Order: sequence, then C-alpha cells, then structure tokens
Amino acid sequence: MLTATTLEQTREEMHEILRGIVPEVEIDYKAEIAFEINKLKKEKNAIILGHNYMEPALFHSIPDHVGDSLGLSRIAAKADADIIIFCGVEFMAETAKILNPTKTVLLPAAKAGCSLAASITAQDVRNLKAKFPGVPVVTYINTYADVKAETDICCTSGNAAAVINSLDSDSVIFLPDEYLARNVAEQTGKNIIVPTTNGANVTFDTSNPDFNMIGWHGKCEVHDKFSVEDIQNIRLQFPDVAVVSHPECSPEVVQASDFAGSTKEMINYVKDVDAERYLLLTECSMGDNIAAAIPEKDMLRLCSVRCPHMNQITMEETLDALRYNQYEIHIDEDIRQRAAQSVERMIAIG
Ligand code: 13P
Ligand code: SF4
Repeated sequence: MLTATTLEQTREEMHEILRGIVPEVEIDYKAEIAFEINKLKKEKNAIILGHNYMEPALFHSIPDHVGDSLGLSRIAAKADADIIIFCGVEFMAETAKILNPTKTVLLPAAKAGCSLAASITAQDVRNLKAKFPGVPVVTYINTYADVKAETDICCTSGNAAAVINSLDSDSVIFLPDEYLARNVAEQTGKNIIVPTTNGANVTFDTSNPDFNMIGWHGKCEVHDKFSVEDIQNIRLQFPDVAVVSHPECSPEVVQASDFAGSTKEMINYVKDVDAERYLLLTECSMGDNIAAAIPEKDMLRLCSVRCPHMNQITMEETLDALRYNQYEIHIDEDIRQRAAQSVERMIAIG
C-alpha cells in the first residue's frame, strides 16, 4: 500500500513499484486517480479490499488490503469503516455484505460476474438435497448469496480439503466447480461422481454405488483454458521451470504442475520456491502483480488469459463508486442470515 500523502509522492511511489510492468504514461495518469481515491477514501471513512486479480496499477495503489477470497472475507467481517469497496467480483462483495451487514458495501461495476457463480441456482441445490437426502452440502465461495443460503458450509480454494475433513460425514455434495471438486476428491481420497448435462437436464450415473462425493458441472472460464500441452511445451523449453496452477484448473493440469493453491498460496509459493523462473497458470493480472513484487524471478505465462469479470473493475469506476456510492450490494435479510451461517462455519474452522 502506498504511504504517499501528495500527488507527487503518489506518482513517485507508483513508478518505483510498477516500472517495467506498466507504461510510464499510464502510471502518470493512474497516479492522479489513485491520489483522488486515497483522499476521498479517508474523507468518507471507506476501506478498499482488492483481490489478487486486480490490474497492477490498481492493485498496488488504492487497496487497504489485498488477498485471496478467504483472506478478504476475514478482513471484510471485521472491517469497522462505514463503507467497504470491494475491488473484485460480485460474489466477493456479496460475501462482505453477508458478513458485515451494517456496512455499505460497494462493487465498482454494475456487473462483474463469474462463470462458476452463474453455473448453479438455489433451486439446483434444493433439487440435489432432495436427490441425496442427508448428505451435507459444501459450496465454493464463488456462488451467490441464495446458493450459500442452501448450503451447510462454504469453502474457498485455500481451505476446501480442510472443510471436507471437518465434516462428520463420509459423503459430501461439493458445488459448483467440477475441477475443484475432482482436485479435492483426489486430496481427500473420495470417489466422485459429476453430472452429465443436456440443456437444462442434469443426470447422475449412480449405477455404481461406490461414490461418496457428488459434484456439479460448473467451470471457471479462465482456468479451463489451460492445458497439459501448455505445460509440456514450456517444460521442453525451460526444464527448470516451476509450474504453479490454481485448483480451478483441470485435474490433469494440476497433476502436471509442481504446486496448486489459492491465489495467495500461489504468490507465497513463487516467493519461496528455489527456481529462477516460474510459470503461472491463472489470471494474467496476477502475474503482473507478482512480477512487480518479486522482480528477481523470471516469470513465464500465457498472457492472453484474462478474467472478463475481474476486468470490469477499473480505477475510474472505483473513483465513481466512492463519489456516487455505487453500486451498492443489497441482500434479502432472510437469505443473508442463512448464507452467513455457512460462511461463518467456514471461517470458524480456520
Ligand atoms: P482465490 O480464492 O484463490 O482468491 O480465487 C478466487 C477466484 O475467483 C479464482 O479464480
Ligand atoms: Fe470466476 Fe474464473 Fe473469473 Fe475467478 S477467474 S472470478 S472463478 S470466472
């Protein structure tokens, strides 16, 4: 976070951090917006939370806290500012409102969705509970509040295995990310079934009763783009590369990687790994953010892979969010209370 109190200092600090990552002219322009935001933030008693996927100029200049979904949920729950501005996607801002309902929570874009959150409805969860009665439901945090409200406990990519292991049950319904579910099934020794889909029809093959994990067909449109061939090609050119992926990648990609973890765990791995270069299989803005923070290591990546939803959040929109109190998150109170139970259970297990 910047320590600058004047526009000149803001410019200097941003050039220092972002040199070689962001064009100079863009840094000058964004320093002016950052200065305005940081001034207004104090006047309005607001805090800004920034997900690791925010673009580098925003990421390094205006958030009070940056991190992964789990870390930012924890901070949102305890925030005592009047306004929480969530520079992330809608389900993240919703989670902040679920955990801290008396605060004004703002998302700086009218729409910043997520292909995983869009892959399942509350009615889908009710149907699954009717089909597999008594089986606890674990739901990835990348879902909307009404889905969380139907859930026993939430998880993030950083604690999914720990959440499953905390349940007093052999079987579990794990929603909605098929790849994360398969990766966690591998980690926790579960036999998973996932549905086949034909339009709105969702069917499970339960003919072999030897299953104790039930998944869904959601996918992250960003992490679905990475393939084992990408890793093989890079390893051919750079045999010493450390390959780091997010568990929303396919199980084949995760198995071909040296490490898989949440966005925060990926950053920590790159900091600690004894390798001169690394390949990041995740949203590319995070690559820029790591490159700015760890300039001594050589980053390889597939630069075209961006999350179109995270990209909706810009510094200009964040300034407007502060100026005009937009776009405020509202959640029906009954849904919020039920969703809060599932998120708070997750936070309680650590
Ligand atoms: P993290 O929980 O690892 O921050 O990831 C959130 C996300 O949306 C990844 O695509
Ligand atoms: Fe959703 Fe994937 Fe974007 Fe993360 S990267 S917000 S999971 S679409």
